[in-house]
Amino acid sequence: MQKSFSALTELVRENISGIRVVKLYVQEGAENARFDAVSRDYLGKNMKLVRIWGSFFPAIMLIASLSQGICFWAGGRMVVFGTMSIGDYVAFSSYLGMLIWPMIAVGEAINNFQRGAASQGRLNRILETRPLITDRPGAAQRGPVAGGVEFRGVTLYHGGKTAPSLAEVSFAVAPRRMLGLTGTVGSGKSTVVNALLRLYEVQQGEILVDGRDVRDYPLAALRDAAAYVPQDSFLFSDTLAENIAFGRPELAGDQAALERVCRQAAVHDEIMAFPRGYQTVVGERGVTLSGGQKQRVALARALLLDKPILILDDSLSAVDADTERRILANIRSELDRRTAIVISHRIFAIQDADLVVVMDQGRIVESGTHDELLAKRGKYHEMFVLQQLEQQIATT
Ligand SMILES: Nc1ncnc2c1ncn2[C@@H]1O[C@H](COP(=O)(O)OP(=O)(O)OP(=O)(O)O)[C@@H](O)[C@H]1O
Ligand SMILES: [Mg+2]
Repeated sequence: MQKSFSALTELVRENISGIRVVKLYVQEGAENARFDAVSRDYLGKNMKLVRIWGSFFPAIMLIASLSQGICFWAGGRMVVFGTMSIGDYVAFSSYLGMLIWPMIAVGEAINNFQRGAASQGRLNRILETRPLITDRPGAAQRGPVAGGVEFRGVTLYHGGKTAPSLAEVSFAVAPRRMLGLTGTVGSGKSTVVNALLRLYEVQQGEILVDGRDVRDYPLAALRDAAAYVPQDSFLFSDTLAENIAFGRPELAGDQAALERVCRQAAVHDEIMAFPRGYQTVVGERGVTLSGGQKQRVALARALLLDKPILILDDSLSAVDADTERRILANIRSELDRRTAIVISHRIFAIQDADLVVVMDQGRIVESGTHDELLAKRGKYHEMFVLQQLEQQIATT
């Protein structure tokens, strides 16, 4: 019953958060039918419980009456034959009557206990799940991280897949240098940065930060060394100020600091256009931001964290090319002060990188500087020419 109830609530939650998709695909009818089926299942399980519970009370009463009948028959005989006084008999049978209600209460307690145990069992499965990726014994932080990143023959399989998501990936970036990552969709770019931050464990090879295996760092220290703007950034249903200062809550009230990063991310003017500026609540309880606004707020959040490694995973994909250029010019100095890993499909976002890596199907197919790669006349060159043409068409 409890399991069925959780399926019901999950269906409702999904339908409410995905209500626009349901409406746009005109699936109200189908979703109603699904809700109906799950509700019926829940109803059926409840009815089963009610039936068991319904037969419990008459059964108890039957047993109680039977026992009183036996008591009357056997006790009556004993009193008649003089082996028991009438007082003893009356006392015994009234004690028996007093026991009926506690017996019913025990039944009820068992019912509640069973229901609680079923729910607790389901909760425990979540609470007792141990993370697969944990600190290795002896993991320790030794001084501040400079930000050198090196991959040595890294191979990574995602759970249950036979094709590797990363195959023999090797590259190195020195501290305060920039790595540009590009390549086809699903080629493993995001997996590279997820593996670096140990969101996934690699099966072969090693990843080094400042020459030390990432597994020798405490997880918190490793992740604390990087400011990461993930591909699908998440904003909390809270004020913009709180969202931007998420990594450094003490700066939520520091208007100057917030403004500085928001100007860099070219989102300050749009924030000021909201009626409550930085105090505007976003998300479910407030204003809905556009995809590009969300991305720039997420970028501002990462810029506020002054970390030795800055990772931008396709972080400006929903922003037009001109704005992206402006933002990249704004954060140039930030990128120069840190190790930057920039993932992008747009060549101009990565062409100044000290090392550009082109990926396809989990493998590095080309790597070098922008000029070296152009000279190779391979995949990168092809992308470059295509994007140049696109730009020419757009400007004429
Ligand atoms: N958690 C996961 N479980 C299973 N497979 C995954 C997981 N995450 C990624 N993959 C697979 O790994 C491969 C590489 O994915 P990845 O997200 O790194 O690609 P990407 O280069 O970042 O692509 P995009 O340009 O679309 O962001 C894909 O085939 C993807 O399906
Ligand atoms: Mg990706």
